[in-house]
Amino acid sequence: MSTYTAPPTPSTESAATTAEAPDLDAQLASFTGTVGDVRVADAKMSMTDVDVHYGTAQAIHGVSLDLGKNEVMAMIGPSGCGKSTFLRCLNRMNDTIEICNVSGSLTLDGEDIYDRSQDVVLLRARVGIVFQKPNPFPKTIYDNVAYGPRIHGLASSKSTLDDIVEQSLRRASLWEEVKDRLDKPGTGLSGGQQQRLCIARTIAVSPEVILMDEPCSALDPIATAKIEELIDELGKNYTIAIVTHSMQQAARVSDRTAYFHLGRLVEVGVTNDIFTNPTHQLTENYITGRFG
Ligand SMILES: Nc1ncnc2c1ncn2[C@@H]1O[C@H](COP(=O)(O)OP(=O)(O)O)[C@@H](O)[C@H]1O
Ligand SMILES: [Mg+2]
Repeated sequence: MSTYTAPPTPSTESAATTAEAPDLDAQLASFTGTVGDVRVADAKMSMTDVDVHYGTAQAIHGVSLDLGKNEVMAMIGPSGCGKSTFLRCLNRMNDTIEICNVSGSLTLDGEDIYDRSQDVVLLRARVGIVFQKPNPFPKTIYDNVAYGPRIHGLASSKSTLDDIVEQSLRRASLWEEVKDRLDKPGTGLSGGQQQRLCIARTIAVSPEVILMDEPCSALDPIATAKIEELIDELGKNYTIAIVTHSMQQAARVSDRTAYFHLGRLVEVGVTNDIFTNPTHQLTENYITGRFG
Protein backbone atom coordinates (compact mmCIF):
# COMPACT_ATOMS: atom_id res chain seq x y z
CA MET A 1 0.00 0.00 0.00
CA SER A 2 1.42 3.34 -1.02
CA THR A 3 1.62 6.23 1.38
CA TYR A 4 1.11 8.72 -1.45
CA THR A 5 -1.91 10.95 -0.92
CA ALA A 6 -1.77 14.13 -3.01
CA PRO A 7 -0.91 14.68 -6.67
CA PRO A 8 2.53 16.21 -7.13
CA THR A 9 2.90 19.81 -8.17
CA PRO A 10 4.67 20.06 -11.53
CA SER A 11 7.87 22.07 -11.46
CA THR A 12 7.49 25.39 -13.25
CA GLU A 13 10.48 24.63 -15.45
CA SER A 14 9.10 21.40 -16.96
CA ALA A 15 5.62 22.89 -17.18
CA ALA A 16 7.01 25.70 -19.28
CA THR A 17 9.02 23.47 -21.62
CA THR A 18 6.23 20.96 -22.24
CA ALA A 19 3.18 23.16 -22.10
CA GLU A 20 1.93 21.38 -25.21
CA ALA A 21 2.05 17.61 -25.56
CA PRO A 22 4.79 16.68 -28.06
CA ASP A 23 3.67 15.04 -31.30
CA LEU A 24 3.47 11.26 -31.74
CA ASP A 25 6.82 10.88 -33.49
CA ALA A 26 8.56 12.84 -30.75
CA GLN A 27 6.81 10.74 -28.09
CA LEU A 28 7.93 7.54 -29.77
CA ALA A 29 11.47 8.83 -30.29
CA SER A 30 11.74 9.44 -26.56
CA PHE A 31 10.96 5.78 -25.86
CA THR A 32 14.09 3.66 -25.91
CA GLY A 33 13.00 0.81 -23.64
CA THR A 34 11.16 0.47 -20.34
CA VAL A 35 12.57 2.51 -17.47
CA GLY A 36 12.68 0.71 -14.10
CA ASP A 37 12.89 -2.91 -12.98
CA VAL A 38 10.42 -5.02 -14.91
CA ARG A 39 11.57 -8.11 -12.98
CA VAL A 40 10.95 -8.97 -9.33
CA ALA A 41 12.54 -11.62 -7.12
CA ASP A 42 9.31 -13.56 -6.49
CA ALA A 43 7.35 -13.40 -9.73
CA LYS A 44 3.90 -14.97 -9.89
CA MET A 45 3.54 -14.10 -13.57
CA SER A 46 6.35 -13.21 -15.91
CA MET A 47 5.87 -11.64 -19.32
CA THR A 48 8.65 -11.24 -21.88
CA ASP A 49 8.61 -9.38 -25.22
CA VAL A 50 4.83 -9.48 -25.55
CA ASP A 51 3.47 -8.17 -28.86
CA VAL A 52 -0.25 -7.97 -29.57
CA HIS A 53 -1.78 -7.34 -32.98
CA TYR A 54 -5.39 -6.77 -33.97
CA GLY A 55 -5.20 -7.82 -37.60
CA THR A 56 -2.30 -5.78 -38.93
CA ALA A 57 -2.52 -3.07 -36.26
CA GLN A 58 -0.06 -3.54 -33.43
CA ALA A 59 -1.49 -2.62 -30.01
CA ILE A 60 1.30 -3.86 -27.70
CA HIS A 61 5.00 -3.53 -28.54
CA GLY A 62 7.53 -5.77 -26.80
CA VAL A 63 6.27 -5.47 -23.23
CA SER A 64 8.16 -7.31 -20.50
CA LEU A 65 6.83 -7.23 -16.95
CA ASP A 66 6.64 -9.39 -13.83
CA LEU A 67 3.76 -9.48 -11.38
CA GLY A 68 5.11 -10.34 -7.95
CA LYS A 69 3.46 -12.67 -5.46
CA ASN A 70 0.91 -10.81 -3.29
CA GLU A 71 1.60 -7.60 -5.14
CA VAL A 72 -0.93 -5.06 -6.37
CA MET A 73 0.20 -3.70 -9.74
CA ALA A 74 -1.56 -0.65 -11.16
CA MET A 75 -1.57 -0.18 -14.92
CA ILE A 76 -2.12 3.39 -16.03
CA GLY A 77 -1.81 5.43 -19.21
CA PRO A 78 -3.83 7.44 -21.73
CA SER A 79 -6.95 5.93 -23.25
CA GLY A 80 -6.09 3.52 -26.08
CA CYS A 81 -2.52 2.87 -24.89
CA GLY A 82 -3.15 -0.86 -24.57
CA LYS A 83 -3.85 -1.38 -20.86
CA SER A 84 -6.92 -3.59 -21.38
CA THR A 85 -5.25 -5.43 -24.24
CA PHE A 86 -2.22 -6.28 -22.10
CA LEU A 87 -4.37 -7.24 -19.10
CA ARG A 88 -6.48 -9.57 -21.24
CA CYS A 89 -3.32 -11.40 -22.37
CA LEU A 90 -2.75 -12.53 -18.79
CA ASN A 91 -5.67 -14.98 -18.74
CA ARG A 92 -6.07 -15.37 -22.49
CA MET A 93 -9.27 -13.35 -22.69
CA ASN A 94 -7.93 -12.05 -26.01
CA ASP A 95 -8.42 -15.57 -27.39
CA THR A 96 -12.08 -14.64 -27.70
CA ILE A 97 -11.23 -11.85 -30.19
CA GLU A 98 -10.81 -13.47 -33.59
CA ILE A 99 -8.36 -10.97 -35.08
CA CYS A 100 -6.21 -10.70 -31.95
CA ASN A 101 -2.79 -12.30 -32.05
CA VAL A 102 -0.53 -12.50 -29.00
CA SER A 103 3.16 -13.42 -29.15
CA GLY A 104 6.00 -13.48 -26.66
CA SER A 105 6.39 -15.42 -23.44
CA LEU A 106 3.80 -15.32 -20.65
CA THR A 107 4.20 -17.59 -17.65
CA LEU A 108 2.31 -18.38 -14.45
CA ASP A 109 4.54 -20.00 -11.82
CA GLY A 110 7.01 -20.52 -14.63
CA GLU A 111 4.53 -22.38 -16.86
CA ASP A 112 3.75 -21.08 -20.34
CA ILE A 113 0.06 -20.08 -20.26
CA TYR A 114 -0.08 -20.14 -24.08
CA ASP A 115 1.20 -23.69 -24.29
CA ARG A 116 -1.01 -25.93 -26.40
CA SER A 117 -1.59 -28.20 -23.42
CA GLN A 118 -2.90 -25.32 -21.29
CA ASP A 119 -6.52 -25.78 -20.18
CA VAL A 120 -7.90 -22.28 -20.75
CA VAL A 121 -10.96 -22.75 -18.51
CA LEU A 122 -8.67 -23.76 -15.67
CA LEU A 123 -6.31 -20.88 -16.44
CA ARG A 124 -9.19 -18.40 -16.15
CA ALA A 125 -10.06 -19.85 -12.74
CA ARG A 126 -6.44 -19.42 -11.62
CA VAL A 127 -6.26 -15.94 -13.17
CA GLY A 128 -9.69 -14.38 -12.66
CA ILE A 129 -10.89 -11.13 -14.18
CA VAL A 130 -13.29 -8.42 -13.04
CA PHE A 131 -14.55 -6.00 -15.67
CA GLN A 132 -15.47 -2.33 -15.70
CA LYS A 133 -19.19 -2.93 -15.79
CA PRO A 134 -20.46 -5.35 -13.15
CA ASN A 135 -21.80 -8.38 -15.05
CA PRO A 136 -23.59 -10.70 -12.62
CA PHE A 137 -25.25 -13.72 -14.21
CA PRO A 138 -29.08 -13.62 -14.39
CA LYS A 139 -29.16 -15.99 -11.42
CA THR A 140 -29.58 -15.72 -7.67
CA ILE A 141 -26.87 -14.17 -5.52
CA TYR A 142 -26.05 -17.65 -4.23
CA ASP A 143 -25.85 -19.19 -7.69
CA ASN A 144 -23.64 -16.39 -9.00
CA VAL A 145 -21.01 -17.29 -6.42
CA ALA A 146 -21.63 -21.05 -6.56
CA TYR A 147 -21.34 -21.15 -10.36
CA GLY A 148 -17.54 -21.46 -10.60
CA PRO A 149 -17.11 -23.94 -7.72
CA ARG A 150 -19.84 -26.08 -9.33
CA ILE A 151 -18.31 -26.20 -12.82
CA HIS A 152 -14.85 -26.83 -11.39
CA GLY A 153 -16.15 -29.49 -9.01
CA LEU A 154 -14.74 -27.71 -5.95
CA ALA A 155 -17.52 -28.69 -3.55
CA SER A 156 -18.43 -32.30 -2.80
CA SER A 157 -21.50 -31.47 -0.72
CA LYS A 158 -24.15 -28.80 -0.31
CA SER A 159 -22.66 -27.72 3.01
CA THR A 160 -19.18 -27.31 1.48
CA LEU A 161 -20.69 -25.22 -1.30
CA ASP A 162 -22.61 -23.14 1.28
CA ASP A 163 -19.30 -22.53 3.06
CA ILE A 164 -17.51 -21.45 -0.13
CA VAL A 165 -20.36 -19.06 -0.98
CA GLU A 166 -20.37 -17.55 2.50
CA GLN A 167 -16.58 -17.21 2.71
CA SER A 168 -16.37 -15.66 -0.77
CA LEU A 169 -19.10 -13.15 0.04
CA ARG A 170 -17.40 -12.34 3.36
CA ARG A 171 -14.04 -11.77 1.67
CA ALA A 172 -15.77 -9.54 -0.87
CA SER A 173 -17.28 -7.55 2.05
CA LEU A 174 -20.79 -8.30 0.83
CA TRP A 175 -22.02 -11.04 3.19
CA GLU A 176 -23.69 -8.80 5.78
CA GLU A 177 -25.65 -7.00 3.07
CA VAL A 178 -26.96 -10.09 1.29
CA LYS A 179 -27.02 -12.99 3.77
CA ASP A 180 -30.81 -12.74 4.15
CA ARG A 181 -31.51 -12.65 0.42
CA LEU A 182 -29.17 -15.16 -1.16
CA ASP A 183 -32.08 -16.50 -3.23
CA LYS A 184 -32.76 -13.09 -4.82
CA PRO A 185 -31.37 -12.15 -8.25
CA GLY A 186 -27.84 -10.75 -8.31
CA THR A 187 -28.98 -8.20 -10.85
CA GLY A 188 -31.27 -6.63 -8.21
CA LEU A 189 -28.29 -5.35 -6.20
CA SER A 190 -26.87 -1.82 -6.45
CA GLY A 191 -23.97 -1.25 -8.86
CA GLY A 192 -21.39 -1.32 -6.09
CA GLN A 193 -22.91 -4.47 -4.59
CA GLN A 194 -22.98 -6.11 -8.04
CA GLN A 195 -19.28 -5.38 -8.48
CA ARG A 196 -18.53 -6.93 -5.08
CA LEU A 197 -20.69 -9.89 -6.12
CA CYS A 198 -18.54 -10.26 -9.25
CA ILE A 199 -15.44 -10.12 -7.08
CA ALA A 200 -16.96 -12.80 -4.79
CA ARG A 201 -17.69 -14.91 -7.87
CA THR A 202 -14.05 -14.54 -8.94
CA ILE A 203 -12.71 -15.37 -5.48
CA ALA A 204 -14.98 -18.42 -5.12
CA VAL A 205 -12.77 -20.58 -7.33
CA SER A 206 -9.66 -19.68 -5.28
CA PRO A 207 -7.77 -17.79 -7.98
CA GLU A 208 -4.09 -17.04 -7.63
CA VAL A 209 -4.17 -13.83 -9.64
CA ILE A 210 -7.02 -11.31 -9.96
CA LEU A 211 -7.14 -8.96 -12.94
CA MET A 212 -9.33 -5.88 -12.72
CA ASP A 213 -10.09 -3.62 -15.67
CA GLU A 214 -11.26 -0.25 -14.34
CA PRO A 215 -13.45 -2.00 -11.74
CA CYS A 216 -14.71 1.23 -10.18
CA SER A 217 -15.34 3.44 -13.17
CA ALA A 218 -19.09 2.68 -13.15
CA LEU A 219 -19.36 3.18 -9.38
CA ASP A 220 -20.08 6.10 -7.08
CA PRO A 221 -17.39 7.33 -4.64
CA ILE A 222 -18.72 5.33 -1.67
CA ALA A 223 -18.88 2.08 -3.64
CA THR A 224 -15.44 2.90 -5.06
CA ALA A 225 -14.02 3.35 -1.57
CA LYS A 226 -15.41 -0.07 -0.58
CA ILE A 227 -13.81 -1.76 -3.59
CA GLU A 228 -10.50 -0.02 -2.90
CA GLU A 229 -10.55 -1.25 0.71
CA LEU A 230 -11.26 -4.69 -0.63
CA ILE A 231 -8.34 -4.55 -3.09
CA ASP A 232 -6.10 -3.52 -0.23
CA GLU A 233 -7.28 -6.52 1.81
CA LEU A 234 -7.14 -9.00 -1.10
CA GLY A 235 -3.64 -7.82 -2.01
CA LYS A 236 -2.35 -9.56 1.12
CA ASN A 237 -3.19 -12.97 -0.33
CA TYR A 238 -3.46 -12.54 -4.08
CA THR A 239 -1.49 -11.11 -6.94
CA ILE A 240 -3.61 -8.30 -8.36
CA ALA A 241 -3.24 -6.30 -11.56
CA ILE A 242 -5.61 -3.35 -11.81
CA VAL A 243 -6.12 -1.07 -14.78
CA THR A 244 -7.32 2.33 -13.68
CA HIS A 245 -7.75 5.74 -15.26
CA SER A 246 -7.66 7.25 -11.79
CA MET A 247 -4.17 8.12 -10.66
CA GLN A 248 -5.49 8.69 -7.15
CA GLN A 249 -6.81 5.15 -7.17
CA ALA A 250 -3.52 3.75 -8.46
CA ALA A 251 -1.73 5.65 -5.72
CA ARG A 252 -4.11 4.44 -3.04
CA VAL A 253 -4.24 0.73 -3.85
CA SER A 254 -1.04 -0.35 -5.58
CA ASP A 255 2.47 -1.37 -4.60
CA ARG A 256 3.96 -0.83 -8.06
CA THR A 257 2.70 1.11 -11.04
CA ALA A 258 3.25 0.48 -14.75
CA TYR A 259 2.84 3.41 -17.13
CA PHE A 260 1.79 2.49 -20.68
CA HIS A 261 1.94 4.81 -23.66
CA LEU A 262 1.19 4.05 -27.32
CA GLY A 263 1.39 0.31 -26.66
CA ARG A 264 4.77 0.55 -24.94
CA LEU A 265 5.54 0.01 -21.28
CA VAL A 266 7.34 3.28 -20.65
CA GLU A 267 8.09 3.02 -16.96
CA VAL A 268 7.48 0.75 -14.01
CA GLY A 269 8.36 1.30 -10.39
CA VAL A 270 7.26 1.56 -6.80
CA THR A 271 4.00 3.51 -6.88
CA ASN A 272 5.15 6.27 -4.59
CA ASP A 273 8.25 6.86 -6.74
CA ILE A 274 6.26 6.87 -9.99
CA PHE A 275 3.92 9.54 -8.69
CA THR A 276 6.39 11.73 -6.84
CA ASN A 277 9.55 11.30 -8.89
CA PRO A 278 8.94 9.74 -12.31
CA THR A 279 11.99 9.18 -14.47
CA HIS A 280 10.61 9.32 -18.01
CA GLN A 281 9.28 12.56 -19.44
CA LEU A 282 6.21 10.77 -20.84
CA THR A 283 5.35 9.47 -17.37
CA GLU A 284 5.81 12.89 -15.87
CA ASN A 285 3.63 14.48 -18.55
CA TYR A 286 0.85 12.02 -17.78
CA ILE A 287 0.89 12.18 -14.02
CA THR A 288 1.02 15.94 -14.04
CA GLY A 289 -2.04 15.98 -16.25
CA ARG A 290 -0.52 17.26 -19.49
CA PHE A 291 -2.20 14.56 -21.50
CA GLY A 292 -4.44 11.62 -20.92
N1 LIG B 1 -11.29 -5.81 -30.15
C1 LIG B 1 -10.45 -4.96 -30.77
N2 LIG B 1 -10.31 -4.98 -32.11
C2 LIG B 1 -9.47 -4.13 -32.75
N3 LIG B 1 -8.71 -3.23 -32.11
C3 LIG B 1 -8.79 -3.15 -30.78
C4 LIG B 1 -9.66 -4.02 -30.03
N4 LIG B 1 -9.55 -3.71 -28.72
C5 LIG B 1 -8.63 -2.72 -28.64
N5 LIG B 1 -8.18 -2.38 -29.87
C6 LIG B 1 -7.19 -1.32 -30.19
O1 LIG B 1 -6.02 -1.58 -29.44
C7 LIG B 1 -5.48 -0.38 -28.91
C8 LIG B 1 -5.41 -0.49 -27.40
O2 LIG B 1 -6.72 -0.52 -26.88
P1 LIG B 1 -7.05 -0.88 -25.36
O3 LIG B 1 -6.26 -2.04 -24.96
O4 LIG B 1 -8.52 -0.97 -25.24
O5 LIG B 1 -6.50 0.44 -24.61
P2 LIG B 1 -6.82 1.02 -23.15
O6 LIG B 1 -7.43 -0.08 -22.34
O7 LIG B 1 -5.50 1.48 -22.65
O8 LIG B 1 -7.76 2.18 -23.36
C9 LIG B 1 -6.39 0.75 -29.40
O9 LIG B 1 -5.82 1.29 -30.55
C10 LIG B 1 -7.68 0.04 -29.71
O10 LIG B 1 -8.38 0.70 -30.73
MG1 LIG C 1 -9.27 -0.22 -21.39
